[in-house]
Amino acid sequence: MTGVPENTERTSVSERFDRIDLAALPRDFLWGTATSAYQIEGAVAQDGRGPSIWDTFSHTPGKIDNDDHGDVAADHYHRWREDIDLMRRLGTNAYRLSIAWPRVLPGGDGPVNARGLDFYDELIDGLLDAGITPSVTLYHWDLPQALQDRGGWPERDTAEHFAAYASVVAERLADRVTHWTTLNEPLCSAWIGHLEGKMAPGWTDLTAAVRASYHLLLGHGLAAQAIRAAVPGAQVGIVNNLSTVHPASDRPEDLAAARRMDGHTNRWWLDPVHGRGFPEDMRALYGVELPERPGDLETIAAPLDWLGLNYYFPQTVADDPAAPVPHVDAIRRPLVPRTGMDWEVDATGIETLLLRLTEDYGVRKLYVTENGSSYPDVVRPDGTVEDPERQDYLVQHLAACASAARKGAPLAGYFAWSLLDNFEWAYGYDKRFGLVHVDYRTQKRTIKGSGHRYADIVRAHRGRAAEAA
Ligand code: IFM
Repeated sequence: MTGVPENTERTSVSERFDRIDLAALPRDFLWGTATSAYQIEGAVAQDGRGPSIWDTFSHTPGKIDNDDHGDVAADHYHRWREDIDLMRRLGTNAYRLSIAWPRVLPGGDGPVNARGLDFYDELIDGLLDAGITPSVTLYHWDLPQALQDRGGWPERDTAEHFAAYASVVAERLADRVTHWTTLNEPLCSAWIGHLEGKMAPGWTDLTAAVRASYHLLLGHGLAAQAIRAAVPGAQVGIVNNLSTVHPASDRPEDLAAARRMDGHTNRWWLDPVHGRGFPEDMRALYGVELPERPGDLETIAAPLDWLGLNYYFPQTVADDPAAPVPHVDAIRRPLVPRTGMDWEVDATGIETLLLRLTEDYGVRKLYVTENGSSYPDVVRPDGTVEDPERQDYLVQHLAACASAARKGAPLAGYFAWSLLDNFEWAYGYDKRFGLVHVDYRTQKRTIKGSGHRYADIVRAHRGRAAEAA
């Protein structure tokens, strides 16, 4: 299933565990898990929640494998206490969650739904009572449908509504939440949602996609201001999914293709936030006029406290003038291990990216805000779920993170994706990323081997930190 070739040398998980340079990680390292609202909550029509673009998209026949949707998901809305208990059992000290905008403002703007805010209020209290630091993401793709009906992210108003929503949430949680993320993976919202059409809202329109990318980043800047105004001492960041990009060959055409893919995947999202503006080569390639107004670039580039890296896989590309922007062909390298998503496993990518963010962009605090793997797990007759491939993936990537920290990357935490198996967007429920298995018929949770492995690593780091103190 994973495509691990027979001739590939495989090191056992326990050997690799010893190779994680835990001493390179700071004593107050955040060991977390991550989830997002639509992927786990369910209860989509309960307590005043309005519809989001993902409700619409997932209920459009043919958009999601098996026509799955998030109506019930992992039923976290009703089972959050049990889920906090799982975090406690994993020994984690942080949890990255997202707030569903349509639960708080069912119409996108206008009246606040008190019951929606109450849910997050109680959840935050439950986390704090369990000694778990909440890290709150304001937007993990669930735009209120009402705002989509008024044009969605291609329209500037959406950025302004996002900032207003950020104020509402920040004001309510200001006394208990310090860690704030504006956007999760704006690349997916803009490129996959508006250019490739594989995510909500399902458009395939380059102009709309570029305008959406611009307004997402503007919304990020405006929301960052709103959070700072409401939360004294807030630690504000943005989360990007980045990839290392390799050329398929040394041909100049392939080198140029890799540069374009790097622009599309990485630089378009990093440069503006770091005061470099939108990359000129990519502006020329897209050929779409940006809806710029004076002052926008400064808003987008307002200083942040940290940057979040979501890393899953590297990319290898060849030039393909006939392909849509950015005119590349994704190359499937042979004899390379792959996850159940068919994503290549390459832990060196996470180290490379952490060092690039440190050295090229001067980031002073980094979190790995997502990293994980999907495999087709099964519950064994004895009730356990063994997932040696996910354990390998976890240990390899943690070793690479520690190596980056040893070389100077200011890494302050790692959030495993994901706490629970959940709704994997267009792939529905077949793709399982959890450290905890969810039986969707019964909602029974079972900590997988990888969850136990993660708990061991967290414990080992804590032990070292205590000895060193
Ligand atoms: O499940 C997603 C998550 O919502 C965003 N980052 C990637 C994960 C795995 O595809």
